[in-house]
Amino acid sequence: MILLAIETSCDETAAAVVQGGREILSSVVSSQIAIHAAYGGVVPEIASRAHLQSIAPVISQALQDAGIGMEALEGVAVTRGPGLSGALLVGFSAAKAIASARKIPFIGVHHIEGHLFAPFLERPIDFPFLALVVSGGHTHLYHVEGFGIYTTLGRTIDDAAGEAYDKCAKIMGMPYPGGVLIDRMAQSGNPDAIRLPRPLLRDGTLNFSFSGLKTAVLQQTMKNPVTIPSQAADDLCASFQEAVCHVLAAKTEAAIRQTGAVRLVVAGGVACNSGLRLRMASLCKKLGVELSIPHPSLCGDNAAMLAVPGDYYLSHGLVSPLSLDVTATWNMDSIKESMK
Ligand code: KG4
Ligand code: ZN
Repeated sequence: MILLAIETSCDETAAAVVQGGREILSSVVSSQIAIHAAYGGVVPEIASRAHLQSIAPVISQALQDAGIGMEALEGVAVTRGPGLSGALLVGFSAAKAIASARKIPFIGVHHIEGHLFAPFLERPIDFPFLALVVSGGHTHLYHVEGFGIYTTLGRTIDDAAGEAYDKCAKIMGMPYPGGVLIDRMAQSGNPDAIRLPRPLLRDGTLNFSFSGLKTAVLQQTMKNPVTIPSQAADDLCASFQEAVCHVLAAKTEAAIRQTGAVRLVVAGGVACNSGLRLRMASLCKKLGVELSIPHPSLCGDNAAMLAVPGDYYLSHGLVSPLSLDVTATWNMDSIKESMK
């Protein structure tokens, strides 16, 4: 099927045209980062308005880049949730309008399902697999048995990994979103310079906690204020990145051992992180596990990733009714039931 995919759950307005749930014919991502940076984070109302302004041009661009018109579309896949309700509504309404006007089916997809299957846009992966999803809103370990069949093995009990990166960057005086900046500075820093906590490392669960780490960084900067750029700032970034990656790798290793997984997917915006990519590569080498981390362009929010589960569901006869609404929260473990 040739699908139009639309993503507007947070601060990227994105549209893509994907064939067969695999071949990206076009992928357009319009970021609102510059608009929100002035406020130090995403402002929901501003996000909705910016999506409204961008959605039509972004969809037109995706069709133009793919070299097709609306009449060539066979279905629409769109993020239904979780995310900011007002932001979700913009993409969801556009998807419904196109589906209704063109008389083609549409399917509302879980945003994290998109992240999970992003590596499939590069090559297919056999089920079952273990997945670590690390983004601005999620830090979850899932056992994935097939499309729609997910079991949460562990999750953050407070901040998500990306949220911790962004908050620590803010504490250090960097602009939003600071994850990528910390990553860059960490590469010139000493990861052993400052001893930061490894939260929940030995609690016997597969859960994560990052808010204490953020507090430790705050206390550290109050004790020893850092200026940017400086070696001290690079050292703090490297020490923070080391603490986050250590915990993510340790819990992922525990999950691999518990489940006997032979395949691991790492996805979401934080999967762009250079330290995490290296750490996961060496972990998988050590354990003999096949690792799939998508290219950084497919780790962050994009629409193409939604077309993978979207194509599967639509080609298996699962279609969302036009009466369906967005949902700000949505549990991955109950997806099969909630889509019926
Ligand atoms: O998946 P994503 O684009 O949006 C959500 O669904 O949340 O993830 C965004 C998050 C942000 O917190 C951003 O700072 C973080 O991913 N991020 C990074 C890097 N690139 C993006 N964090 C650490 N290192 C990076 N290189
Ligand atoms: Zn995301």
